[in-house]
Amino acid sequence: MSGPDGRFQRYLAAKRTVDDRALDRQVLDRLATAAARLDDEAGARALRVLDVGAGTGATLERLVERDVLPDAVEYTLVDHQTANVDAARERLSRWAADAGHDVTAIDDELRIENDDRRIEIEPVTADAFEYVERDTWDLLVGQAFLDLFDTRNAFDALRDGLRPGGCWYFPITFDGGTILSPPVDPELDTRIERAFHAHIDDGGDSHAGRHLLARASETDTVLAAGGSDWVVHPRSGAYPDDEAFFLRYIVDTIAGALNETGKFEPRTLAGWVAARHRQIDRGELTYVAHQLDVLGRVPAER
Ligand SMILES: C[S@@+](CC[C@H](N)C(=O)[O-])C[C@H]1O[C@@H](n2cnc3c(N)ncnc32)[C@H](O)[C@@H]1O
Repeated sequence: MSGPDGRFQRYLAAKRTVDDRALDRQVLDRLATAAARLDDEAGARALRVLDVGAGTGATLERLVERDVLPDAVEYTLVDHQTANVDAARERLSRWAADAGHDVTAIDDELRIENDDRRIEIEPVTADAFEYVERDTWDLLVGQAFLDLFDTRNAFDALRDGLRPGGCWYFPITFDGGTILSPPVDPELDTRIERAFHAHIDDGGDSHAGRHLLARASETDTVLAAGGSDWVVHPRSGAYPDDEAFFLRYIVDTIAGALNETGKFEPRTLAGWVAARHRQIDRGELTYVAHQLDVLGRVPAER
């Protein structure tokens, strides 16, 4: 999904407005309550949060903007791509300054402060599954992440990094629906959707949302769950913000994945991509992806 040309970082930035619309507010509100309780339990020390597959830091921005986090937080962002981590450092610094916070850079870390808030931010290039074992976390966040892996194994490994009674939050977890409308060729569109999900299942999980809910119900308390479908649609023939780019990236990603499988004639796929891009140019394409937000707490005694 990524390359050295900055397209992936632009995709993550473009995804921000799509996620903002999609995220389930009731789950986010419940997270705020859970974070306040975790903070009480942490006593005088700051709340320790690990954001796995953090990309360029959009989740931290949102959690601060929506007042979900307590006042004193140590927030570690881990991503295995250096380009994402560098972009996160830069973006977060700019975002905090724009929001009127004091920003201090200490080596590779950032401190964001105002009268009543202090967030120590550590962006780290590392594998999330190795990094999670380095410490014990109060809260684990992984947005648009679990579907990249076998959900059950990934969930089990990540939640092991939490302290007893700690919480996890996995929003925008893909759950097996990719709708592009209007059709290009209904029969080809259906084959492409099926093959794309099969490609995700080769290493990842195209139904990660429901598998997460099922596994978490066996081991933990699910505090809240809700749908967070991406819905990208034109308004008067145009897309807001950078969402036309977002759509092009999605279409190209689907075609790139299917090219690798060798199951489609390259010419057929190229024709499909060109038709989808024309729909975007004309402001006709609507895209829906089915996803779930799930929040839970591990048992207090482990
Ligand atoms: C779909 S992106 C989501 C990024 C961000 N959470 C967001 O929603 O904007 C998934 C991210 O996970 C990262 N990633 C994938 N596998 C990883 C791993 N094993 N360890 C750390 N990061 C990983 C990718 O580099 C990518 O930035």
